[in-house]
Amino acid sequence: PLHPRAEAHGKVIVLGEHAVVYGYPAVAAGLPQGIVLEASPRPDPRLPITLTIPAWDLDLELHAGSDHPVARACLEVLAHCDGPVTGWALHGASALPARAGLGSSAALTVALARLVFGPDASIDDVVAASLAGERVFHGEPSGLDSRVAAQGGVLRYVRGEPPRSIVPGAPLPLCIIPSGIPRSTADQVARCRSRLEHLPSVVRPVLIAIGQAVESGIHAIEHGDLDTLGVLFDVAHGLLGALDVSSPALDRMAADARAAGARGAKLTGAGCGGCLLALAGDAPDAAARLTAAFPTLRPLFVEVAAS
Ligand code: PMV
Repeated sequence: PLHPRAEAHGKVIVLGEHAVVYGYPAVAAGLPQGIVLEASPRPDPRLPITLTIPAWDLDLELHAGSDHPVARACLEVLAHCDGPVTGWALHGASALPARAGLGSSAALTVALARLVFGPDASIDDVVAASLAGERVFHGEPSGLDSRVAAQGGVLRYVRGEPPRSIVPGAPLPLCIIPSGIPRSTADQVARCRSRLEHLPSVVRPVLIAIGQAVESGIHAIEHGDLDTLGVLFDVAHGLLGALDVSSPALDRMAADARAAGARGAKLTGAGCGGCLLALAGDAPDAAARLTAAFPTLRPLFVEVAAS
């Protein structure tokens, strides 16, 4: 049987995207608005499991033979159940957009793993089950999204190493602004690689600089130095532009966020579309000004503290 309710975080890459692919560090933060998943028994235990997540336009039956990637990913996680995997209705609520680089798939698979294992499961077990589902979406995922979804807080991550928790000296006032523009992570990683191969002696130092921005950013986060962190956001956005992964729309959004009082702003995740990440200022009207600067885009405000 499944447990009745589970939650998981979303994620945002604070600094270090793209360079992380080449072994440099990255910092990510958990977003409390990830997902709440509830399970209730269906009238007949032989009926297939259904999954409804209105916020992500998902309404699926989970049965072997389904070619929907979400159904296949969920079945991989549910394979960790002892008993039969039928007879449940799953309902999910989320404040995050799907497919925008905010870790929606990891949030779903982590919450589902928690429905299977229960609230006392270890983070490692939950992450391992989530990864079985994430492989359906992402081939060989780094594991960062699942770890952040399960644990929340702020994490430093290097490919192939266990993530390390960062304790913020002050809560991070993050503002995430979905551009509404779809993007492909694989295409964006390929753009960066092509620029690196074309001009290695110029582009390699850009990757190194992003890695340095991460280390300086961690120092700033640990010391509650939000002004320096904001400057690092601006620098990182410029460096990501040099890697050919920004876009005119994201560049405009970053300028608008800064003009609306943000301490700094950068693209987050793969770039081209997806989301802008701004570090809000501390004026009493900081959130209202950012909201007014993006009247159609519904910015999401999060204070990230230690997990
Ligand atoms: O897919 P997203 O938007 O969460 O971010 C991908 C982050 C990259 O560094 C661009 C790619 C990767 O695999 O780390």
